[in-house]
This record gives sequence, structure tokens and C-alpha cells, in this order.
Amino acid sequence: MSRILLTLYTVILLHQALPSNVTIDMQPLLKEGEESTITCTVHDVAPQELLTINITRGGDVIDSKSYGGPHVLQRRTVGRVYTFTASRGDNNMNFSCEAILQLGREQKRTKSPDITVQTYAPPEFSERLCPSTLLLGKEKKQVSCLADGNPPPTVECKAFGRHIKNMEAVTGNMTGNYTCLATNQYGNAAKFVTVEYDGNIGSKVGAEVIVVLLTAIITSVWDVL
Ligand SMILES: *[C@@H]1O[C@H](CO)[C@@H](O)[C@H](O)[C@H]1NC(C)=O
Ligand SMILES: *[C@@H]1O[C@H](CO)[C@@H](O)[C@H](O)[C@H]1NC(C)=O
Ligand SMILES: *[C@@H]1O[C@H](CO)[C@@H](O)[C@H](O)[C@H]1NC(C)=O
Ligand SMILES: *[C@@H]1O[C@H](CO)[C@@H](O)[C@H](O)[C@H]1NC(C)=O
Ligand SMILES: *[C@@H]1O[C@H](CO)[C@@H](O)[C@H](O)[C@H]1NC(C)=O
Repeated sequence: MSRILLTLYTVILLHQALPSNVTIDMQPLLKEGEESTITCTVHDVAPQELLTINITRGGDVIDSKSYGGPHVLQRRTVGRVYTFTASRGDNNMNFSCEAILQLGREQKRTKSPDITVQTYAPPEFSERLCPSTLLLGKEKKQVSCLADGNPPPTVECKAFGRHIKNMEAVTGNMTGNYTCLATNQYGNAAKFVTVEYDGNIGSKVGAEVIVVLLTAIITSVWDVL
């Protein structure tokens, strides 16, 4: 019995062939939220039943496929396709394919080159990052209107004859209906923001509002970063 096993093992070992090449094929520039595919190709490998293909992202295995199946002596080219939804977390990550041949206790590993991925997202406004109403009191107040996107978009708010820079402290004379435009190299987005003045908002209330606003600004800058 053990002789048969040994013979089988020898046959397998004799017919083992490390892949001549492991390649990875994927787009290096991905839109966040969209599906993308990775194609791994393991060229001229044998035997297929001892093969595992692992796909890694920044060192973590995101897909693993072990082939198994009947014993095939011939060298084969084996492909593996993996589909995923790109996210901001994929930005600047290295992706690679690895072929692992389990030969008894020994693992023979062949890796593809790394592909470094960049992700992008056109600008998008939200009520949280850019409230549609800003109420001004007697005190100066900072205007915060930010937009999400990758790379972080620049935001400009303009009204008839007026222009507010982000984080600029403004007073009551800056009221108006502003159009805020967020731009990065992948697109733009617009939002209307109304700046109103209420003379009844005293300095005491004003200070509280400023604290709230500053917190909001710090939070949103933090989120954007
Ligand atoms: C591996 O495959 C790639 C793409 O087909 C090719 O450019 C490269 O020369 C190959 N490398 C080897 C060592 O065969
Ligand atoms: C391949 O992936 C499997 C499943 O995540 C893991 O158990 C195994 O250790 C990986 N092999 C290598 C060589 O990274
Ligand atoms: C990603 O891969 C490239 C090319 O192999 C390498 O120069 C770079 O250091 C890698 N980056 C990380 C974060 O591992
Ligand atoms: C608002 O007042 C400031 C000074 O208090 C002035 O510099 C600025 O030009 C005024 N803006 C408008 C739109 O009138
Ligand atoms: C802003 O728009 C509102 C409603 O469209 C209007 O009532 C208001 O007068 C406008 N304010 C300014 C300063 O134009």
C-alpha cells in the first residue's frame, strides 16, 4: 500500500512544474463604487490539482482558489477571474496574484508583479459637509462648505457679486443665495447655499454657534482627509 502511495507521489513529483510565469491583469485606475475585475493567469503549471491561486491586496488575501480535481500530467495554463467593487480603501494598494503548488510538505510559490491601484471619485455634496443654510449673527462666522471626492475637491461659493472662500469668516453683509461648485479632475457638482442674517442672534448665542460650527468644520475636514 505504502509502496503504491510512494509511487504515486513520485509520479506527481516527477510531473510537477513550477509555472513559467504568473501574470495579473487589472485596470490601475478605478472608479470608487464600480465593479472591477482581476484576472490572474498561471502559465504552464503541473499538476493542476495541487495548485492554489491567491489574490492579495496590500498583503491580505482577498480571493483564494484551490483546484483539486483529477490528476492531469500535462502542463496547463490556469486562469482565475475575481470581481469586486472598488472603494477608497483600494487607493494606493498593491494587488498581486500568487500561484502556490503544495508538493508534499513543501510549498512552491510564484508571484506576479504588483499593480498599484489608484481610485477616484467625482465630487459629491452632502448636507453634513455643506449645510444648505447658514445663519449669521452679529459675530463673524466661518463658512464651511466641503464636498466629498477623490482627490479632495476644491469648493467655491459665489453669489451675485459675492464670493466666499471656504473657512472665511464672514459678517452679516455676506447674505445671499450662493451657488457652491465643487471640482476635481474627475467632475464637478453644484449646490445652493443660503446665507441669512438674524440680528437677534447675540454674541452669547453666536459664540455657541461658532463652537458648533468649528466642531462641524473639524469633523468634516477630518472626514475628507
Ligand atoms: C510573463 O508574462 C508577461 C506578460 O505576458 C511577459 O511580458 C513577461 O515577459 C513574461 N515573463 C516571463 C519570465 O516569461
Ligand atoms: C492563500 O489563501 C488561503 C486562504 O486565505 C490561506 O489560508 C493561505 O495561507 C494563503 N497562502 C499563501 C501562501 O499566502
Ligand atoms: C507596491 O509595489 C511597488 C512595486 O512593486 C513597490 O515599489 C511599492 O513599495 C509597493 N507599495 C507598498 C505599499 O507595498
Ligand atoms: C462686508 O464688510 C467687510 C468689512 O466689514 C468688507 O470688507 C466687505 O467688502 C463687505 N462685503 C460686501 C459684499 O459688502
Ligand atoms: C434667496 O432666495 C429666496 C427664495 O428663492 C428669496 O426669497 C431671497 O430673497 C433670496 N435672497 C437674496 C439675498 O437674493
